[in-house]
Amino acid sequence: MQQDIENLKNEITAAIAASDSLDSLEEIRISSLGKKGSVSGLMKGLGGMSPEERKEMGPILNALKTDIANEIGARKNTLEAAALEARLLEETIDVTLPPRERPLGSIHPISQVMDEIAEIFSGLGFAVAEGPDLETDFYNFTALNIPEEHPARQMHDTFYLKPDENGERKVLRTHTSPVQIRTMINQEPPIRIIAPGRTYRSDSDATHTPMFHQVEGLVIDKDTHLGHLKGTLEAFLKAFFEVDAVTLRLRPSYFPFTEPSMEVDVQCSFEGGTVKIGDGNDWLEVLGSGMVHRKVLEACDLDPNVYQGFAFGCGIDRLAMLKYGMNDLRAFFDSDLRWLRHYGFSALNLPTLAGGLS
Ligand code: PHE
Repeated sequence: MQQDIENLKNEITAAIAASDSLDSLEEIRISSLGKKGSVSGLMKGLGGMSPEERKEMGPILNALKTDIANEIGARKNTLEAAALEARLLEETIDVTLPPRERPLGSIHPISQVMDEIAEIFSGLGFAVAEGPDLETDFYNFTALNIPEEHPARQMHDTFYLKPDENGERKVLRTHTSPVQIRTMINQEPPIRIIAPGRTYRSDSDATHTPMFHQVEGLVIDKDTHLGHLKGTLEAFLKAFFEVDAVTLRLRPSYFPFTEPSMEVDVQCSFEGGTVKIGDGNDWLEVLGSGMVHRKVLEACDLDPNVYQGFAFGCGIDRLAMLKYGMNDLRAFFDSDLRWLRHYGFSALNLPTLAGGLS
């Protein structure tokens, strides 16, 4: 009898040690300690024994039951720990991996360039201002010293809306310069703003689309001068094109709202089919600028004998094309996913001066 018990114990112990899953361990538990199990069967036999036999076998069978239960418990702990370990390994997340970019879509080069420009100018102390796309004649033209019948109105290929009941025709703003006026009317100097946004002119070819983007800059203070304009533009273009130095050429020009007015070129080279900004033998026109005309200050109720400043306007689409090597402006607005995947930017990589703009 005792030998049988010993054999049974060895058999069950071996089975426990060999079990490799919680399921097979549970089967062993049922077949040994369960109601109809082998150990339970032996326990039941105690009832039919003589008192002497029971006294001898009782503790032995109880010990068997306890030992088996302990062994199953220990094996269970081991198997559970192993299962957890395996699951943790399988579900490992490598937090050092770069984020997946595609499911979030991509940032359009124009939005990217606008963010880059805002980042650069915020570093120079400029705030971002906004105005509506639908403008009145006053903000888009008159207050900017472009009176009715002024030839500059024809220069702009303006989209006009139907006149309202008062006979007033709104326009799709032809430039971001009306934001200058809105800012000067609503804000006391000193003023330092940029105004990026959509602009519209009836024009369409590889480098012109009826809707395009500009960024306006405006600085008004008591002693702002042309040197500040040049320094600001140099700092901006250097940071934007991510080069150590830029050489600018200020060419005398004409805008009704600035006096003097200049167009600004950056030195560049076109060698090897790509533009390199910074040095070279060529010049590339990048923006229009000048000192704010006194008539414009007057239209905004600022005393031109006290205040002066500079303004500039720059085509964002063109800057994006130059910086990121895209040659057909129309593709910007085709909403072609293949183009966006190729030229778009990660939504998670905001341009910062510290971390790099592009
Ligand atoms: N508004 C001008 C344009 O669209 C650019 C400009 C802005 C020029 C500010 C001078 C000052 O061409």
